[in-house]
Amino acid sequence: ALPVVEVHSLIDSTNDYLMRRLPNQLIQGQVCLAEFQSAGRGRRGRQWISPFGSQLYLSMYWYLEQGLSAAMGLSLVTALAVSDAIKSYCDVQVQLKWPNDVYLDGVKLAGILIDLEGQPLEPSHSVIGLGLNINMPDLAAQHIDQRWTDLQKHSEKKIDRNDICAAIINALWQRLEQHKLHGLSPMLDDWHKQDLYLNKQVKLLTGERTTLGICRGINNQGALLLEVNGQVQPIYGGEVSLRSA
Ligand code: ATP
Ligand code: BTN
Repeated sequence: ALPVVEVHSLIDSTNDYLMRRLPNQLIQGQVCLAEFQSAGRGRRGRQWISPFGSQLYLSMYWYLEQGLSAAMGLSLVTALAVSDAIKSYCDVQVQLKWPNDVYLDGVKLAGILIDLEGQPLEPSHSVIGLGLNINMPDLAAQHIDQRWTDLQKHSEKKIDRNDICAAIINALWQRLEQHKLHGLSPMLDDWHKQDLYLNKQVKLLTGERTTLGICRGINNQGALLLEVNGQVQPIYGGEVSLRSA
């Protein structure tokens, strides 16, 4: 089947748009794209700066037959798909930062936001959101409160948004199907090859708490493996952030 793709010139948030249509008005793999978001969201209510025409704002609906347990790996699977597509489209190698960011040259290139609805053991619904900086105007980008980059700065080839978008939708579809059938295990090598913090000292921020450790990659459930005082412990997503130490 071919994916259904809707394109809006103006929207509040492509994730919110699909979430409002759950569950009956969507088909598997349906995509919503927009030129501009008036209320682009990051994690934990943070703002995603979304100027007109300069990024890819993409959300995809994905039904989870196996329930929310399969949701854990979704942001990792999406990050891998974005990497696959960028590599094949313009031969640029990105780095992946657990659990939901794509970096290039050590700064943020794209963010991933997964919204979920359902119960742990029942079929559930997910909306996978991606904001990928393609060609950011400096004026709008002044409002971004951390270092960022865009794809055009790193590619000699002129980035065509339609082409990179098609490459991402295809890669995402492929990775999601693979994940549905085999889980994350076959993707761990791919992740570790581009893991931004692999074997590096990091700070894990959990609310007010900061834990110092060494990043030892991820396990097949998508948990971060953090070595603290010689002991490796799995960290299961949620309200946590990683920083270099
Ligand atoms: P973490 O995911 O590790 O918690 P984060 O700071 O990247 O860290 P997110 O919620 O993932 O937090 O992303 C939202 C943040 O991304 C915003 O607070 C802002 O600093 C940054 N940001 C917002 N818009 C953009 C953009 N267009 N490009 C790059 N970064 C952006
Ligand atoms: C993050 O880094 O916190 C995630 C940012 C996700 C931004 C994308 S843009 C398309 C989709 N719609 C949203 O409102 N957010 C995601």
